[in-house]
Amino acid sequence: MHQARFISFEGIDGCGKSTQAHLLTNYFSAKGVDVMRTREPGGSPGAEAIRALLLTGATDKWSAETELLLFTAARRDHLEKTIEPALMAGQTVICDRFADSTRVYQGATRGDLREKVDHLHKEMIGREPDLTLIIDVNPKIALARGLARNSGEDRFEDFGLVFQEKLRDGFLKLAESFPDRCIVVNGNRTTEEVFKDLLTLTQL
Ligand code: TMP
Repeated sequence: MHQARFISFEGIDGCGKSTQAHLLTNYFSAKGVDVMRTREPGGSPGAEAIRALLLTGATDKWSAETELLLFTAARRDHLEKTIEPALMAGQTVICDRFADSTRVYQGATRGDLREKVDHLHKEMIGREPDLTLIIDVNPKIALARGLARNSGEDRFEDFGLVFQEKLRDGFLKLAESFPDRCIVVNGNRTTEEVFKDLLTLTQL
């Protein structure tokens, strides 16, 4: 029997986490695990509407403080409407980004807002994934990959390479501060090699 688990994927823009989340979901599903893949910002109709506000437009469209409020609002809706009902129903939830992205992007990179991020998280979200897989990739390669996608959701990629380098440092520090649930995976390898590691790490 598989236990319901909440697994998040994290990393800088273009690190390959969405591809890995997809592969892991398909793998679990093929093994007969009742699994759901979701993403942040988004994952519920309300949160997807907030996603469109956050990820399009000029870099100065929102301050880091406003972003913090919008990402937290989106997360609260996602948690209420999608994640908690799925976990309660016994599903495994694979989430492409969760609160660690707010800690690193708004808390340590866009702004120095970590205290406010932690306060809002405690009041409005109050839960962590059971396991967080941080895909660590060379920022130069990741940024080129992210921009090449031409997704129209490039507001954070548009902050540039120095921003992505700061994010990478932020994720590595974050992993050190949550050693019980965060694992850093070397993403500077082929998709297949990275996925092989993930299979070992998720059959706990
Ligand atoms: P993605 O779907 O390509 O990962 O894009 C989401 C973008 O939003 C990405 O640039 C990271 C950013 N983001 C934050 O800044 N804070 C957050 O809390 C989350 C979930 C995402």
